[in-house]
Parts: sequence; C-alpha cells; structure tokens
Amino acid sequence: MAALPPPATPLLELQGIRKQFAGVTVLDDISLRLYPGEIHALMGQNGAGKSTLIKVLTGVLASNGGQMWLQGQPVAPATPLQAQRLGISTVYQEVNLCPNLSVAENMFAGRYPRRGAAQGLRIDWAEVHRRAEALLARIGLQIDVTRLLSSYPVAVQQMVAIARALGVQAKVLILDEPTSSLDEDEVQKLFEVLRRLRAEGLAIVFVTHFLNQVYAVSDRITVLRNGRHVGEWPVAELGPSALIAAMLGRTMAEQAAQQQPLPEEAAQRPPLLQTEGLGQAGQLQPIDLQVRPGEVLGLAGLLGAGRTETARLLFGLATPDRGVLRIDGQEVRFESPSDAIRHGLALCPEERKTDGIVAELSVRENIVLALQARRGLRRTLPAAQQAAMAEHYVRLMGIKTASIETPIGQLSGGNQQKAVIARWLATEPRLLILDEPTRGIDVAAKQEIMAQILQLARAGMAVVFISSELSEVVRVAHRIVVLRDRRQVGELPAGSTEAQVLDMIAAQAA
Ligand SMILES: Nc1ncnc2c1ncn2[C@@H]1O[C@H](COP(=O)(O)OP(=O)(O)OP(=O)(O)O)[C@@H](O)[C@H]1O
Ligand SMILES: [Mg+2]
Repeated sequence: MAALPPPATPLLELQGIRKQFAGVTVLDDISLRLYPGEIHALMGQNGAGKSTLIKVLTGVLASNGGQMWLQGQPVAPATPLQAQRLGISTVYQEVNLCPNLSVAENMFAGRYPRRGAAQGLRIDWAEVHRRAEALLARIGLQIDVTRLLSSYPVAVQQMVAIARALGVQAKVLILDEPTSSLDEDEVQKLFEVLRRLRAEGLAIVFVTHFLNQVYAVSDRITVLRNGRHVGEWPVAELGPSALIAAMLGRTMAEQAAQQQPLPEEAAQRPPLLQTEGLGQAGQLQPIDLQVRPGEVLGLAGLLGAGRTETARLLFGLATPDRGVLRIDGQEVRFESPSDAIRHGLALCPEERKTDGIVAELSVRENIVLALQARRGLRRTLPAAQQAAMAEHYVRLMGIKTASIETPIGQLSGGNQQKAVIARWLATEPRLLILDEPTRGIDVAAKQEIMAQILQLARAGMAVVFISSELSEVVRVAHRIVVLRDRRQVGELPAGSTEAQVLDMIAAQAA
C-alpha cells in the first residue's frame, strides 16, 4: 500500500506563502510540496492556518506574498475557477451544496453543459445527467442523479461534493475535513475512493482532526503551528505522539482510557430525566433512559442509529407519539425546545454549521445568545456581564480569537464550534445534551472539552453525550446505551472497552 518514492519535481509546490488579515499574520513563510500519487495530511491545531492556506492556494483569498508552481510552472490562480481550470480541485471545510436541488444539479450548478444556437439557450439535461453519472462512477458511486441531494445520507452527499470538485482535469484534490460527519464504514469507503484516485496519479491533500485516519490513509504529513511551517515527514517517520508534539509544540499528557462507575452516593439519586417507551413512529423505537444528576450517559451507535433522533425527542425538537418523559419524576410534554429549556435542559446540536453560529455576530454575542434568549428580549444581560462571561469561556475552551468582539465568522472552524459549546454551557443547564461535541476540534482541545464535561458533571450537571468516536464515549460515560437501526439494543457499564461497544453494535447486526 506504500506510495512510490517522490519524483524529483513536485506536482504542486508552494514557497514562502504569507497571509495577513487586518495586519495580523496568520500564515508566515509556509511551504508545501505535493507529489503525484500521494495522500498528504495537512495537520495543525484549530486556527493553525490549514483552511486559510487552502483558500490561498485555490484562489479564494489573495496572499500577501509567496510563490506557487504547478508541474514546475509558476501559477497564481486568482479565483477558485482558475484554480480548477489548472486542475486544483477542492472541497472546502464548509461544504456548500444545496440539499433541495437534485444530485446532478448540485454537481453542475453554475457550469451546465448547454445546447442550442448560441450555446447558451438551453441546458442539456440529458448531458448533465450523463456527465454526473460518469463523474460519480469514477469514485465508485451509482445513484439516481435526478433525486434530491437531501434524499441521500450525508456520506453520499460528501461523495457528491468530491465528484463535483473532481471534474475531469483534476491533478490535485484538496479535502478540508471531509470525514467529520461520516461514520467508520463511510470513512472506509471514502478512503477507497482516495486510494483509487491516488493510483491514478492525483496528489491529495487531506485535513482531519482524527489522528488514526492520518495513519490509515496518508503517505506524508505537513504540520503547521500558529501559521508557521513546522515540518514535512513521511508518515512512517512521524508517529502519533511525535505528530501531536509537532502540532502543539509540547507533549500531551496521556488521559485515562476508561471512565469509572458513578460514585455510590450519586448513583442513589433519583433520575433527573427518565423515559419509558419514548418513541416516534418511523424515527425511533421506544427507548428507556435514565440520567441522574452528575451522571454522563453515553449514546453510542453508527450514524443513523437513532442518536440524534433521541436527542431531538428529549429536547422537544421532535414530538414523541408514544411513551413518557419525566423530569424530576414528573411527567412532562415538550411542545418545543423552549419547554425543554424551561426545565433546565440544553442541546448542543450536531449540525452546528446550520443550527449553530451566527457568522455576523461577535464571539461574545454568539456565546450569550442562548442565555439571552432564555431571559427574553426585555431583560438584556448587562454589557459587563456579557463581556465577563465571554472572556471566561474564551479562556476555558481555549477559543483562538483576536477579541470577544471579533465576528465569529472570522474564527477557524474548530474555534467556532468551541464557541457554540460555550453558548450552551453558559446557560448552566441541569442537563446538557451534547451531539458530537468534538467534531472538528483538535486533539488538545478535545481533551480540554472532555475534562470540562467531567468537571461539570462532578458539580452535579447531568450529561447526555453523543459521539461517533467510541474512544471518547468510553472515556467520559458512566453508562453507555447502544443504539442500532433506531432502536435501543443494550447498555454497558463504565469501564467497558471500545471493542465491547463495537461488539454490541455488531452482535445486533448479525
Ligand atoms: N476572514 C478572516 N478574517 C480574520 N481572520 C481570519 C479570517 N479567516 C481566518 N482567520 C484567522 O486565521 C487563523 C487561521 O484560521 P484557519 O481557518 O486557517 O485555521 P484552521 O487551521 O483551518 O483551523 P480549524 O482546524 O479550526 O479548521 C485563525 O486565527 C483565524 O481566526
Ligand atoms: Mg479549518
């Protein structure tokens, strides 16, 4: 599976790339070399400059210096279209597909093949569909391209984004966190596609915060830290702890691999939240859950197992048509999230890109948003209190921002996500539901967030923790409920291993 040794001339080479925003240097003297037939991991903490470098090299952002060569020729793409014409294809961190258009429309929007007198009269739909199918076939996907994109799972949508980017001329394919919403099987399928493209001679840049994926698929690694180039290594020469040290500039303490059971005294407390046969036709089979104050309940399962559906039912985003929900032993019916919030619940949603941030508002405004909404518009939080709260969470979560007044859209993807988590912590809920809280967050920040969750639990908060990363679930959860095919299939105690959780998921599949 090893790639060929690099030929003398890189396919794409960058040297001395600089980028400033309003005088602040975010890329300083960055170099990057990509060879044909390699998968190259571009690594670094949240805010290190990965997405900015990608935007510079694909003509989305103008650089403030540096040079770029494609197959030995100097190039300077000024727009993404120019970059694509040169054969540099990109799927950006914020995938911008339209769920309510068809697959084919998504793939060709803005560049439809046309037919007619002046070659601009009529979109040639037969040709659109034929080409869409051909591009998808190249990555091994056979689907009905006339169906709405939203009718397919996220993984397929991700593949469509890649096929759209690929075009026919692609020499370089850049993927900025393509796996953040895929489950294990889907990641494997994506990797097969990447290996196939590598065998065709493409150079592939791959950004991820899942270290195991780096070792599963890439040939070489470039590390950025604080907008600077740290180094470039063949993957065999940079093991995981050396990689982490290169990214952080220090080593990271090992964390306990497994959670301990809930202390006896806490386990005696009556449940804060309890469900009996709670379900919704077509969405979730009846489930029975209990969460006590101070307890972290993990929900494990593959994508589509029903974890997010559970969160939505608990939080009043979906209406159960069977079963009972109790808070403090009292039966409740949530007509909307505001009912849930009034009972002390909070949900940090999975789809933070759409449900989460308000790009034009400042970091401070984004952090106080949920708390302010709960107080109502007429009881504005005093400015000083807002500022103090924002400063507190920026420090606590290690949010990398120039100030609390910076528009949140200017933060890196991972730092935006930290702010959304902070928003829900700021409401000081009695029960916090976290749906994939560490997605897109770097290794160090993941550990900090997990430690934070555990500390809040020790102080009495109840937590429902949903994550595709089983290593995280076994590390924080006092109890793990396993879901599969929208059904509760079992429960595991603290101290269970990832393998045991996986076995339970798989046993039910057989
Ligand atoms: N439009 C902008 N205006 C001002 N600063 C920006 C802008 N875009 C990015 N930055 C800053 O540039 C730095 C690098 O951000 P970038 O998005 O490249 O990080 P990243 O490595 O992709 O992080 P992540 O892993 O979180 O996605 C950050 O400090 C960010 O706040
Ligand atoms: Mg990024």
